[in-house]
Amino acid sequence: MADTLQVRLTPEEMPRQWYNIIPDLPEPLPPPIGDEQLQQLPNLMIGKCLEQEMSQERWIDIPQGVLDLYARAGRPRPLFRAKALEQALGTPARMYYKSEFYSPTGSHKVNTALAQAYYAKEQGIERLTTETGAGQWGTALSYACSMVGLKCTVYWVRAVYRWKKSRRNFMNLFGAEVFASPSPRTKVGKDLYDKDNNHPGSLSIAISEGLEAAKDPKSAYGLGSVLNHVLMHQSIIGQETQKQFEKIGEYPDLVISCLGGGSNFGGFALPFVGDVLTKGKKIKFIAAQSDAAPNLQGEYKYDYADHGEITPQLKMYTLGHQTDFPPIMGDGLRYHGCSPILSLLRKTGHIDTVAYPQDEKYVFEMAEKFCRTEGFLPAPESAYSIACAIDEALKCKKTGEKKVIAFNISGHGFMDMVGYDEVLHLSERSPLKEATR
Ligand SMILES: Cc1ncc(COP(=O)(O)O)c(C=O)c1O
Repeated sequence: MADTLQVRLTPEEMPRQWYNIIPDLPEPLPPPIGDEQLQQLPNLMIGKCLEQEMSQERWIDIPQGVLDLYARAGRPRPLFRAKALEQALGTPARMYYKSEFYSPTGSHKVNTALAQAYYAKEQGIERLTTETGAGQWGTALSYACSMVGLKCTVYWVRAVYRWKKSRRNFMNLFGAEVFASPSPRTKVGKDLYDKDNNHPGSLSIAISEGLEAAKDPKSAYGLGSVLNHVLMHQSIIGQETQKQFEKIGEYPDLVISCLGGGSNFGGFALPFVGDVLTKGKKIKFIAAQSDAAPNLQGEYKYDYADHGEITPQLKMYTLGHQTDFPPIMGDGLRYHGCSPILSLLRKTGHIDTVAYPQDEKYVFEMAEKFCRTEGFLPAPESAYSIACAIDEALKCKKTGEKKVIAFNISGHGFMDMVGYDEVLHLSERSPLKEATR
């Protein structure tokens, strides 16, 4: 069984509950602070999500309506053995990757988008507003709103909005309205826009704009990362992976993924962290980041989640909520703070981190290696997860250790070829004149 190339679950085998790690954490999770901001939250957020944010229940039932939406979105997703990659690397390690790229919009973000849209609809909300960085979250929420019959407004970091035209069209196709951020439509946005109408924007600014836009009583704000309930919704990824490993009699020594705000890393890793905390398992967890915004190397302190200080302050590793970060192609990793749950686990020494150079050359080369051997085109963010898994497999080559490496591929890169071209200069390999001769 350990030689299986693909491990599948049937729809009936899909987990029926989300895993909330909060009661199993090694220390109590520091609560959010800020009286004024906390008082505003019920007017801005989806009621059920706010309730789940504070929950101490270890297991939370996934409503049948969300399970149906997951099934329609193609869950459960396969776990693949990367045997061709292993052979190309010459590693004795066994490498397995989870295929969140098999998603209608291209990433894991649909797992929480569908839950949030479902609860919002149930509550009688008419519109969800949000921010997006890479564009994957904005597309996921646009899709989820379309699936349940809600309107959707997306504020999109301008630096990325400019070059991902196809993704903008994709969101429009689902009926969403999409604005480059900072925009002149909100107070926080206008202050910055008036100073520079070409401002590249940041996730932190776009979050402020999304929150401001949610002040309408028929609207609510949906966040695609960082918060406890988002990581809990994403736990479907890791729970499926646990079942898949169980089926083939394997168990990971290493669990790896990329980390921006923490949703795919948390979703993939936390069920396994639960095994470490409650069952005495031994696993090394590594979060792959960019030197452009290595938030896990920041300071562990209270900070705002947004530029405009509309959110409560969260205890997290942060680089500062008003810091400017250089744009990168893996823009989903360019956020100042890491989820409070993962920050706590970093502080207690349960999570390691690595940050790759800002020019992204190495991670894109590793994505190319993966593409040539395994055949799937990863999202730029997922390229970081692949680079880290390859580095660990190469360490095994040196030591001869037959470790089991599990890594998550959070999304596909079908709409990111401009980014691949920019970093790898693909079009120079086959100049246009050759192609058209
Ligand atoms: C494909 C993909 N992976 C990873 C990330 C990083 O976000 P998170 O850390 O919340 O998973 C993003 C963010 O936009 C993304 O689009």
